[in-house]
Amino acid sequence: MCGIVGYVGPRDAATVVYNGLKRLEYRGYDSAGVAVLAQNGHIAIRRDVGKLGNLGSLLAESPVSGEIGIGHTRWATHGEPSQRNAHPHVGMNGRVVVVHNGIVENFLPLREELEAEGVTFASETDTEVIVQLVERYLESGLGFETAVRQTLAQLEGANAVVVMSVDQPDELICARLGNAGGITLGIGHDEMFIASDIPAILEYTRNMIFLENRQMALVTRQSYQITDLAGVPLQPEVHNINWDPVSAVKGEFKHFMQKEIHDQPQALIDTMRGRVNFEKGTIALPEMNLTPELVHSLNKIIIVACGTSYYAGLVGKFMIEALSRIPVEVEYGSEFRYYDPIIDEKTAVLSITQSGETADTLVASEQARAKGATLWSIVNVIGSQSMRISDGYIAMQAGPEIGVASTKAFTTSLADMYMLGCVLGEIRGVIDPVRMRELVNNLAHIPSLAGQLLENEAVYENLASVFHGAQNFLFLGRGINYPVALEGALKLKEISYIHAEGYPAGEMKHGPIALIDETMPIVALATNDRLYDKMVSNIQQAKTRGGIVLAVATEGNKTIANEADYVIEVPASSELLQPILNTIPMQLLSYHVAVWRGCDVDQPRNLAKSVTVE
Ligand code: G6P
Repeated sequence: MCGIVGYVGPRDAATVVYNGLKRLEYRGYDSAGVAVLAQNGHIAIRRDVGKLGNLGSLLAESPVSGEIGIGHTRWATHGEPSQRNAHPHVGMNGRVVVVHNGIVENFLPLREELEAEGVTFASETDTEVIVQLVERYLESGLGFETAVRQTLAQLEGANAVVVMSVDQPDELICARLGNAGGITLGIGHDEMFIASDIPAILEYTRNMIFLENRQMALVTRQSYQITDLAGVPLQPEVHNINWDPVSAVKGEFKHFMQKEIHDQPQALIDTMRGRVNFEKGTIALPEMNLTPELVHSLNKIIIVACGTSYYAGLVGKFMIEALSRIPVEVEYGSEFRYYDPIIDEKTAVLSITQSGETADTLVASEQARAKGATLWSIVNVIGSQSMRISDGYIAMQAGPEIGVASTKAFTTSLADMYMLGCVLGEIRGVIDPVRMRELVNNLAHIPSLAGQLLENEAVYENLASVFHGAQNFLFLGRGINYPVALEGALKLKEISYIHAEGYPAGEMKHGPIALIDETMPIVALATNDRLYDKMVSNIQQAKTRGGIVLAVATEGNKTIANEADYVIEVPASSELLQPILNTIPMQLLSYHVAVWRGCDVDQPRNLAKSVTVE
């Protein structure tokens, strides 16, 4: 949700930066700030909490003038929304200033190290370690660029930064590490722009460069130099962005679905923002309105949803039951509404819905309400019907999802159900603070691991070139990964029109095994968990019948290649969070197969984004 803007050129930097921030307002924020290198050679900062108008008033009362500046809209992760925690952050000696998106996962040890060396911190943010580190390197005699490089090399997690220094008053340095939102460079005449999102700078230029992961840019008003983190120069492609706002939003991607797959690391950060306190190892879900009385009184949760959201619910059942020990049932809205389900005031009915307007899900919720249930929802569209009728909700914060096939709403809702399970488990005394910290730590790594998975799309392009002609696909998984298999099959059906079935691998022998021959690709979810050995024996059964197996396996698994024809590697996470990562290869595979087949990826035939009819 955070927004970044930077400017160097002849215009008034504070004005350009402030206007850019205004165009990023839609991302949501709780505070904002601007830093300008003033004519006297000092860094001048204006920051305030609340709406951008507050910052605007501050700038009007106490203007800052200069030709180079950076700005930020912040949505708090580390440290409450306050003036001192708002960006930009300046170093102890006033030589460097930074704006930042993402989470510095190792900020605590870095902060302790710096404090031991006498650095005083002025905020509670993870961001401040970046600026203090750059300053420490400047103090030790390094140049600005080298100091930034040394600092970036020490940061863990997905992060995007822009840095400015009094030592190099004509230069901005920006970098992208992982997928904590993008960094876009706008090339003007005798001026340069930096932004986390195209709309911020679209009024000034159409010529843009998108920094890739682990790239850095040195920007002056007349030049830009893109390098990798080691300093090796790169030749970036300059994109000419159409003024048409739709293509502007699609940015560097061919389809909305591809963009939305790539949005996931940021969407995952956004869904945790303001809820997960990584420092303290706690989670708060204030909009859920959970009271200890209510949570203790529950004897059942029923998840109702449709389509992809239903499969998310199936994963959520594993998460919520494991974390809170409350029994969970999962129902299709369209089926549930015609049952006579056993529901009373000890039941909570949780709807999962991207749009918040799916008719079957809404009717199912209303019927449950009539029987006395508490209504909860996990919903993306703010102000939608599902959100309005609920007693408590979690907003996914995934941002607009335009591709009809749901992607980021699936993974963010998994993160939300994990958080919900943690909070319910804590209230019911199932999770103690030590376990909670461990659960939070596992969650903190997910955005950057998701980002890693997006780095190599060529793998999926190759697989698509091999498999785009298949007529049938089988997706197999076990346990918490069985719903991921269902979602993989659904994605492929929806956008490529290839028939696909998701199946629990152990059930294969009771039917689908009869379908297997050398024309049948089988995607087997075989990441390391309690059921891994069972999955391997299912893979062997499929291979014996001539099937072609694509195994999704944990990075570093050296033996799976002996069993499967193709291996897609995913980073390891905890068992409960692994489905978030395992889903991403499913999305990329179906996306590239559909592109190969020339399908209308964003608007598949016969499907609608929001199904408001029965
Ligand atoms: C439609 C969409 C799916 C979506 C389903 C449920 O079928 O095409 O992508 O998963 O509706 O939508 P909801 O908005 O309730 O999550």
